[in-house]
Amino acid sequence: MIKIGILGNGTVGSGVIELLKKNTEYIKRRSGTEIKVVKVLVRDKEKHQDKNISDIITNNIEEVFSENPDIVVEAIGGLHPAYEYIKRFLQLKKHVVTANKDVIANYGDELSAIAEENGVNLRFEASVAGGIPILKPLQECLAGNDIRYIIAILNGTTNFILSKMYGESMKYDQALKIAQELGFAEANPDSDVLGYDAARKLSILSSISYNEKIDWEKIKTEGITEIDEVDINYAKLLDCKIKLLAVSSREEKGIYAAVRPAIIAKEGFLGMVDNEFNGILLEGDAVGQMFFCGKGAGKLPTASAVLGDIFDVIENKKQKPMFMRYEEAQVNTKWSKKAKWLIRINVKDINDAKKILINKFENAYFFEDNICPKDELALLIEIENENILENKLANLYKESNISLIKKLVILNQL
Ligand SMILES: NC(=O)c1ccc[n+]([C@@H]2O[C@H](COP(=O)([O-])OP(=O)(O)OC[C@H]3O[C@@H](n4cnc5c(N)ncnc54)[C@H](OP(=O)(O)O)[C@@H]3O)[C@@H](O)[C@H]2O)c1
Repeated sequence: MIKIGILGNGTVGSGVIELLKKNTEYIKRRSGTEIKVVKVLVRDKEKHQDKNISDIITNNIEEVFSENPDIVVEAIGGLHPAYEYIKRFLQLKKHVVTANKDVIANYGDELSAIAEENGVNLRFEASVAGGIPILKPLQECLAGNDIRYIIAILNGTTNFILSKMYGESMKYDQALKIAQELGFAEANPDSDVLGYDAARKLSILSSISYNEKIDWEKIKTEGITEIDEVDINYAKLLDCKIKLLAVSSREEKGIYAAVRPAIIAKEGFLGMVDNEFNGILLEGDAVGQMFFCGKGAGKLPTASAVLGDIFDVIENKKQKPMFMRYEEAQVNTKWSKKAKWLIRINVKDINDAKKILINKFENAYFFEDNICPKDELALLIEIENENILENKLANLYKESNISLIKKLVILNQL
């Protein structure tokens, strides 16, 4: 019999318990052993008394340690005390499966090393893109590839909000409120809407893909709070959508890594990923382009990923520890490839501004004046890289009384 301790009985923890119960017979047949949940840690015991696990609920972590579980599922979230609990269980030679991207993005290398020293597994498939199997395919099935790039939608909350803004012409605040009412966004949505959640997931995904440590705090992170209905309308005119992309790619020197809203083709792989779904497009030198799509969060989709990890541990599939001994990568923050950009500019005199802009940007294409809001000019330009674009824009502000409202990269070839 395999004894499991579960830390947390929220969305993920209760999903794991439900799935283990629902598939008891199948799991026994598949693993050749019985899996028993021996303790479930929560903060507030009273809240969980009426559930049919009241006999194994505790709010005392020491009771979980004293049950001596073989595997611990960490699903309490946040950095502390999750990090300390995981560390202590690994040091006691217990396998740990976690869904916690905060802990893995911040302490993944240290904890992987502790797992290895103690001959146990630390697995975290559910920490990136919930139910979508992506870390294991990258680590195992695609190990023979040099991964060239990853372009992904990794945050369901922002994707839901942007889908509402695009599909139902909602304003940002209205879409956020609906996301909160439906449980897709938390009461404090900052980590999602400011892009930090996606940055942490991108750092995990990219570190495993490029075998170099991509520090999540070095990832240039821009959220969706500044996206408005005007941006959405321009995207529609281009037959595109706006998505919050988590992008990384191998460059001659270092790795480009950023979370940024971008304009992408509405019928491309990622353009068709709507609402709370996630999608990951990547290219390996041998396999070519691959696309993974599915539910990036939710009770049972996330439990599916956790159970996959539990099975691997039970079946004794020794995995090369993810994250260990990676050299710290140089993280580049500017888009270095030729691309088209949508530029929105605040102007006093439209005709004067056009003359200045034509002089500055060859082949600039201007949106019709009657489409732009008052005092605004919107143009499309193609330019070698983001550094050149930023330099040109900086000179523009110095030389004229034009100011930038927004610049969005257009990746309509995706
Ligand atoms: N939700 C998803 O779809 C999803 C998807 C992928 C990954 N994840 C990750 O999975 C983790 C858990 O997320 P969740 O959505 O399941 O969270 P949640 O619904 O808020 O549940 C958290 C659970 O942990 C317990 N808990 C929190 N802090 C605790 C502490 N200090 N001591 C003891 N118990 C504590 C809570 O107890 P009480 O019930 O008593 O408050 C609750 O049962 C997070 O790292 C999250 O990022 C979630």
